[in-house]
Amino acid sequence: MKIAASAPSNIALIKYMGKASEASNLPVNPSLSLTLENLRSFITLESSSKPDAWTPLVGYPEVTLSERGHQKFLAHFARLKELWKIKGNYTISSANNFPADCGIASSASSYAALTRATHDLAVESGTIQVQSAAELSRLSRLGSGSSCRSFFSPWALWKGEGAEALPLNVKVEHAVILVGEERKEVSSSEAHLRVNGSMLFEGRVQRATARLELLIQALQNGNWKSGFEICWAEFWDMHALFETSQPSFGYMNSDTLTVLELMRGIWRRDGDGPIVTMDAGPNVHVLLRPDQTAKAAEWLQSFHHIKSWS
Ligand code: PMV
Repeated sequence: MKIAASAPSNIALIKYMGKASEASNLPVNPSLSLTLENLRSFITLESSSKPDAWTPLVGYPEVTLSERGHQKFLAHFARLKELWKIKGNYTISSANNFPADCGIASSASSYAALTRATHDLAVESGTIQVQSAAELSRLSRLGSGSSCRSFFSPWALWKGEGAEALPLNVKVEHAVILVGEERKEVSSSEAHLRVNGSMLFEGRVQRATARLELLIQALQNGNWKSGFEICWAEFWDMHALFETSQPSFGYMNSDTLTVLELMRGIWRRDGDGPIVTMDAGPNVHVLLRPDQTAKAAEWLQSFHHIKSWS
């Protein structure tokens, strides 16, 4: 039997950073994300006579998994197989259509794709009925927290056990400005633990929760400038936690700072610009209103970027 599935990545505007439960990836604060339909992970599950194993999916940019990443991925498959009573062994092959591990949330799309493929395998094998997106979201969270938001599009809100669709009537385009594609040295799992040691962590839950409410209001009211200010403060808040952790770590490089300075310059000059955010990596994500598309070509022309959704 062979199953193929795929799932999108997502970029958080209000970040999931810090866990209330490390074992089950329960977040300390709610988060809000935009699903990136064109930045996807692809996966196949094929029955095999050998024990379950992972290989890169042929035909896509090559992915390598660290030993830990490899074991975590297989453990999530084993958990779902047990839950859904799937028999037999499988070769899991997966890949992304974008660079992994550098702040484009490849763990979100990878785990969402694995959860979706394993679900499809169980349905095909007749061991379960079709499950809801809410249930898949809850289960995917156990593999990687941020993956639970990839089951809803375009906007997802995650509070507690799983994510839900957020009905926001706001259309945006997304691009990521690539300034680094090297694998990150501190994984996001490690980041979630280390931020607890930052003196800035106190008040983090309140700040993220307050920004979430303000951001939803701003987007609903078409207050783009306020959206920019909230998202700017929010990603700096997360990166400040990284830099003030014990031991300290960080993801920005000098090109990141150049891009951020240019983005702020656009706002200063025009009183308008993109919403800017960053994940746990050096790359800079921008969100654009449809009416900014022409200007965006000018704003982004000097950067190597992937325009991912429109
Ligand atoms: O799902 P994880 O454990 O890889 O956490 C990633 C969290 C961030 O990407 C840094 C922020 C977020 O909300 O996506």
